[in-house]
Amino acid sequence: MSLKTTEPVPLLLALPGSEGLAAAIAAGCGGEAASVATHRFPDGESLVRLEAPVQGRHVVLVAHLHEPDAKLLPLLFAADTARELGATRVTLVAPYLPYMRQDMRFRAGEAVTSHTFAAVVSAHVDALLTIDPHLHRIASLDAIYPIDARALRAAPAMADWLRREVPLPLLVGPDSESAQWVESVASRIGAPFTVLDKQRFGDHDVAVAFREVPDWRGRTPVLLDDIVSTGRTLAAAARALIEAGAAAPICVGVHALCNSDAEDALRAAGVTRLVTCDTVPHPTNAIPMAPLLAAALASRSPE
Ligand code: R5P
Repeated sequence: MSLKTTEPVPLLLALPGSEGLAAAIAAGCGGEAASVATHRFPDGESLVRLEAPVQGRHVVLVAHLHEPDAKLLPLLFAADTARELGATRVTLVAPYLPYMRQDMRFRAGEAVTSHTFAAVVSAHVDALLTIDPHLHRIASLDAIYPIDARALRAAPAMADWLRREVPLPLLVGPDSESAQWVESVASRIGAPFTVLDKQRFGDHDVAVAFREVPDWRGRTPVLLDDIVSTGRTLAAAARALIEAGAAAPICVGVHALCNSDAEDALRAAGVTRLVTCDTVPHPTNAIPMAPLLAAALASRSPE
């Protein structure tokens, strides 16, 4: 008797705002999609209700976790409820994993939020699936997530998009941390690449410098980064490219956190287009991640 035919398919439960992603993943992996309903009481506390029976099911909670603080408690309530009501396994799919950048105490007294966030999430779910978490000083998710934590890579989908949309790109990473994405995408599409040096002096104050100025002739510069937050990193890089004689660049990012004036800052710096993966819902989303997440879920045997 085949395990696959007797085990129920995964049940994808969308937290508010993640219904479209949950439906797309369910369609891609043969799962079933439902929602987690939430209600905010007048006193500011939350009521959470799972809108499908979970007994004996692999429950996959799907949550867009940008602006995470208000989303965390309902997520934890939903996870605990799934376990209490008999789910065999609870997996969290969070395409953008927050709190990965504060991975050390930069100044005395600061909270190392990467560690605390990981500990809290790990106490409530059995597994985590995410896309390109910001791993810098932390080498892998295993270092801080004691659960089955898996990081998928957006690079193949970004490379496919560039292959289709940009005939002769020259890839540019704005800082050393972006080198991992830039090298991977460049090798997939056979494009040249360079990586700049960045210094950050404040949230909105960034400077970049060339290690060596590449040969732009006939090529479209494409700035590639994992996170677009204030947009100042990509804006500073775009200015440096244009000052060095390159054509106006396009930008490709994984996570469009995009604070309110990020796109204005990019436009003012000469960027012609910003394209992002849909790990964070945003008008610039053009590279869907549901196929990648669905394939990862489908490849895991039901437990
Ligand atoms: C930082 O190390 C990241 O890789 C991004 O470069 C950074 O988060 C971008 O932030 P912003 O858009 O605020 O410059």
